[in-house]
Amino acid sequence: MKKIASLGAALLFAFAGAAMAAGGAGLRLEPAPVHRLDVESLQRGARNFVNYCLNCHSAKFMRYERLTDIGLTADQIRDNLMFGTDKIGSTMTVAMPAELAKSAFGVMPPDLSVQARVRGSDWLYNYFLSFYRDDQSVTGWNNLVFPNVGMPHALWELSGAHRLVTTEFDDHEKATAAAIAIKGLVRVDPAPGGKWLVRTVAADPAAPGTMTQVQYEAFVADLVNFMDYLAEPVRNKRISLGIVVLLYLGVLFAFVYALKRSYWKDVH
Ligand code: HEC
Repeated sequence: MKKIASLGAALLFAFAGAAMAAGGAGLRLEPAPVHRLDVESLQRGARNFVNYCLNCHSAKFMRYERLTDIGLTADQIRDNLMFGTDKIGSTMTVAMPAELAKSAFGVMPPDLSVQARVRGSDWLYNYFLSFYRDDQSVTGWNNLVFPNVGMPHALWELSGAHRLVTTEFDDHEKATAAAIAIKGLVRVDPAPGGKWLVRTVAADPAAPGTMTQVQYEAFVADLVNFMDYLAEPVRNKRISLGIVVLLYLGVLFAFVYALKRSYWKDVH
């Protein structure tokens, strides 16, 4: 019975995959260049996060003092990462009152404690690379990964403003070929009249940021690395523990194997 059920599930997935391929719409994300065990990147990410995100978002499952896990001292945390009257044992709460945020943006900025587990690192990385100017939207910004997002581009002074680049194609094949030719983030969607749209974002030379594109991408990678850590702080410990356990088993294996050979010496 179990076998039939899993076969059914496998078939369902196969059909869903085929349907998606036939539909052809899709989003290609850049892989996020994050390294979980890179402590310096996590520290930079923590700084980016508290400076640019905690005005609107909270991370209420995270205590400031826990940041000692990523190699910061209590003094460094107090001096560089905590603003206002927060005690080091307190959680990362938001500076803006909930009602104000709701009335300003129409939606509550969600708590970011476990956001990386909800969306994944790649999604988050591309989210910050795909804000573009949109005069039609309330905030003046829109996003290729999260269409009609209610969040303004919080990092635009660093990245500069980007604009949307749309190319229209008559058929899906041509659109896909064009999408493949574009390096990085790209989105292919059907449009009315059987047409296909290929969309990506490009820097607007008229509104440069304080960082180059390469610097900005590194900034975002650190930020996303930290958000990934935030979503599961003990994972780094688990990885290091796992490495120690494997080494231990390796050494143990050498001894056990030597013992086995010595026992069986007389039998063979
Ligand atoms: C000016 C206020 C503001 C700032 C600053 C801000 N955000 Fe947001 N953010 C919002 C709002 C409002 C939403 C809800 C958007 C929606 O649902 O349409 C949001 C949504 C998000 C989402 C998407 C949530 C989802 O549904 O998956 C992520 C991720 C996010 N913010 C991360 C960040 C990070 C990281 C920073 C710091 C670099 C940041 N935000 C800074 C207001 C803000």
